[in-house]
Amino acid sequence: MSSANEETAKLTIGDNEYELPIRVGTEGNRAIDIGQLYAQTGHITLDDGFANTGPTMSTICYVDGENGALRYRGYRIQDLAEQCDFTETAYLLIYGELPNAEQLEDFRANVRNHTLLHEGMRRVFSGFPPHAHPMAILSAVVGALAVYDKDSADTVDLAQSELAIYRILAKMPTIAAFSYKQSIGQPFIYPQNHLTYCQNFLHMMFAVPSEQYNMPVDFVNALNVLLILHAEHGQNCSTSAVQMVGSSNVNLFSSISAGICALWGALHGGANEACIDMLEMIMADGRQLGKYIDLAKDKDNPFRLMGFGHRIYKNYDPRATVIKEIAHRLVNKYAADDPLFEMAQELEEVALSDPYFIERKLYPNVDFYSGIIYRIMGIPKNMFTVLFALGRLPGWVAHWREMHLAPGKRIHRPRQLYTGHSEREFVPLIKR
Ligand code: CMC
Repeated sequence: MSSANEETAKLTIGDNEYELPIRVGTEGNRAIDIGQLYAQTGHITLDDGFANTGPTMSTICYVDGENGALRYRGYRIQDLAEQCDFTETAYLLIYGELPNAEQLEDFRANVRNHTLLHEGMRRVFSGFPPHAHPMAILSAVVGALAVYDKDSADTVDLAQSELAIYRILAKMPTIAAFSYKQSIGQPFIYPQNHLTYCQNFLHMMFAVPSEQYNMPVDFVNALNVLLILHAEHGQNCSTSAVQMVGSSNVNLFSSISAGICALWGALHGGANEACIDMLEMIMADGRQLGKYIDLAKDKDNPFRLMGFGHRIYKNYDPRATVIKEIAHRLVNKYAADDPLFEMAQELEEVALSDPYFIERKLYPNVDFYSGIIYRIMGIPKNMFTVLFALGRLPGWVAHWREMHLAPGKRIHRPRQLYTGHSEREFVPLIKR
């Protein structure tokens, strides 16, 4: 949604002046529409890291980085985290409105109906070596759904797309939990469809055939909130990857698989695992906080404070505020005086009073405290980013669907400014 706007931006190139339309979003955010720029002027724009580029208009989520606010379809994430469950949030993100009771039950039933995987897929899991990272398994197995569930792989067919959405939402927790079981050599635990989305995932992760598994309700609730908080965040790296790949009209499963790969990197979703690695390293090195703050500031050293900083937030990440509160509650109840949590808070305090971090507006992001909670829940470090992927899934799906339903959808195909050699004579191998 953008309002019609008479205002234009004027661009002067040499003796020529061009008018570019200005689009205004519902929150007053503004964009210069350069859709006709190349056709009109023969110029492209150059924008390293896409810091100023909006590849699309979207109604899904609003991030106010200056004020630290995040809303899904207009609803504050704090309200959703308090009053919704994850499946309800997924419906909201994908279809645009909060479901009524009947719509929600239909949606839950459709998702529940698809939690099992094709039995042949067990062989895909067993082909991975021991200790394979679960993110590698997750992306590969999600990609393999394109062949196992190929009757929902046609993106142009609306009914198939709908079926693909139910399937990916239903099967991702199963694939995620099987990836973990595969990585530790335990038998797969099949989904139990009478359980909620979060209960089912914890059951598949932690139950074993030989014993009764009792899951603490606090862990189910914490997981529910964490998944909601991770569910959507606009044009982040993985969502852009899903859209970029999906824009070619490849099936949903392949597009989500690309998003999982993008998320794995330490600068994106991989930061939650990297953050706990960093905290453990600092702890093992005698809690020398000053030393690591100095390293993070040193431009000649690649070390960065993981879980700190954000392209959009120039204020406290609102997700980190909620996550820190949950961490407090769980630490008090299950891990009194967790030294890692205590040290993380000290590190935050030192960083937030350091001019380097103040000037650059670097605050804790969603990944700084989430690992503290996962540790208490018994989730191993290499599953942290898998949990991020489970949470982000509805956001990926929502953008994929919005893109395909948009009139005039086009393949994503950026340009580049070529700075290589001009045409030159080929030199045969013998003369090189
Ligand atoms: N530690 C030390 N310095 C930092 C950090 C950090 N974590 N983050 C940014 N800076 C510095 C950076 O060196 C640069 O300094 P200067 O202006 O002197 O060159 C300045 O702050 C601006 O940073 P940038 O790299 O231009 O910012 P960016 O928007 O390109 O990168 C980021 C954003 C999240 C990749 C980066 O802040 C970072 O690497 N953080 C650590 C990794 C992390 O926590 N990632 C999770 C992000 S939130 C979850 C998600 O969406 O994936």
